[in-house]
Amino acid sequence: MQTANALPGPLDHLKDRSVLRTACLIGGEWVADAARMIDVDDPATGRVIARVPDLPRAAATQAIDAAEAALPAWRARPAKDRARLLRAWYDLMEVHADDLAWILTSEQGKPLTEARTEIRYAASFIEWFGEEAKRLYGDVIPAPAADQRITVLREPIGVCAAITPWNFPAAMITRKAGAALAAGCTMVLKPASQTPLTALALAELGQRAGLPAGVFNVVTGSSRELGPELTGNPKVRKLTFTGSTEVGRELLRQCADTVKKTSMELGGNAPFIVLADANLDDAAKGAIASKFRNAGQTCVCTNRILVDRAVLEPFVAKLGAAMRTLQVGDGHEDGTVIGPLIDRAAVDKVGELVGSAMRGGARVMQGGAPHELGGNFYQPTLVVDVDEHMSLFKEEIFGPVAAVTPFVGDDEALRLANETIFGLASYVYGSDIGRLTRFVERLEYGMVGVNTPAISTEVAPFGGIKQSGLGREGSHYGLDDYTELKYVCLGGVPT
Ligand code: SIN
Repeated sequence: MQTANALPGPLDHLKDRSVLRTACLIGGEWVADAARMIDVDDPATGRVIARVPDLPRAAATQAIDAAEAALPAWRARPAKDRARLLRAWYDLMEVHADDLAWILTSEQGKPLTEARTEIRYAASFIEWFGEEAKRLYGDVIPAPAADQRITVLREPIGVCAAITPWNFPAAMITRKAGAALAAGCTMVLKPASQTPLTALALAELGQRAGLPAGVFNVVTGSSRELGPELTGNPKVRKLTFTGSTEVGRELLRQCADTVKKTSMELGGNAPFIVLADANLDDAAKGAIASKFRNAGQTCVCTNRILVDRAVLEPFVAKLGAAMRTLQVGDGHEDGTVIGPLIDRAAVDKVGELVGSAMRGGARVMQGGAPHELGGNFYQPTLVVDVDEHMSLFKEEIFGPVAAVTPFVGDDEALRLANETIFGLASYVYGSDIGRLTRFVERLEYGMVGVNTPAISTEVAPFGGIKQSGLGREGSHYGLDDYTELKYVCLGGVPT
């Protein structure tokens, strides 16, 4: 087992160290050697916990070649066979869930309870798409001529490249890989450099499940080195990316030369609307769940809490009281609800957004500074009277800051909610079903949670509109982005 590059630290506490890998997987071979290595650190302590290869561009080419070589046999397998292997991968994720969660917390920082939830969420995509593989139906279309028969086949698009983020080191991989492999595609994955260990552990389990060599490859290294190969190599027929809108735009440009199919799950600026007739206890609870998941570092996290001015004071009192109970600490420790941010730059960015809102006249009711634990920790912060011109309103915060903006009337609530280039997730709380229906219809978002913050599930289509992205992940729609339609017109059928 190649784990020589794991250093003393939290990874010593794994129950079964054999899931830990510090080498890349290319064509079924573990590649440990590279001229340079990447340090992986624990965001809670800043200590380096492992090193993984900083691979050169040529390694990405090799991985793409391996994925291409594996493609004909993989796509030719009966769907039921692919489903069986995905099921075995899912089962192994369940068996090793505790260790996967521990690895995830060690490199990403989120509390262990959240890491366990993410591992279950991640595994659910492998299970779901394994089942969906058997339902990759085509179509039969009534032909315009008596001697013709028209059928539509859904075929795997081919070799796929995936670039995944650090905020969900497991689920953003399986949401893509599950769909790709189920459809009969092969994949080259480049995980975020901050969180490669979860990806490599998933690859280890995939291999144990029996995925053939080259079907799922993982390369670690810098985006600058590996990215251009993944976006420029003509053998890659599809790029799937989760990350910022800024990077997504650049990847789209790079993919244009070889006209690749793309799926982009990009930034968000989720409004959380509290109408005057909402149950304020439920709304405060929902806002906490949606705002502080992963310390506020998710694309679907509430970014702006829009509250009817009539209930502003009681709502803010409830929210503030609930926030005071949130325990900040190392994610490995019992009771931690909010872990560290991913790095120092993230802490600085949150500080700048809060500082600029304060200078603009917003009121900081709680928090508003780095946490006394130091390092990458930031205090859960409540800011009220945030106005639409502030960067705290316009930008994705990606930190534990609840920014509250009052509104008067439904039209103003909707105008504020929709006044953004983003269109990923949105939430609305109220009790009049007719009014809520009108909100759902007028919110310019790919996803709307009505009286619930819990919108993420493998059975529903996850994705955004406007500059939040292209395509949908999860659900039966999630396979569409990994297939091409082939229309067959059979002529000369005796009439
Ligand atoms: C994300 O933040 O990109 C994903 C969050 C989720 O799947 O719930």
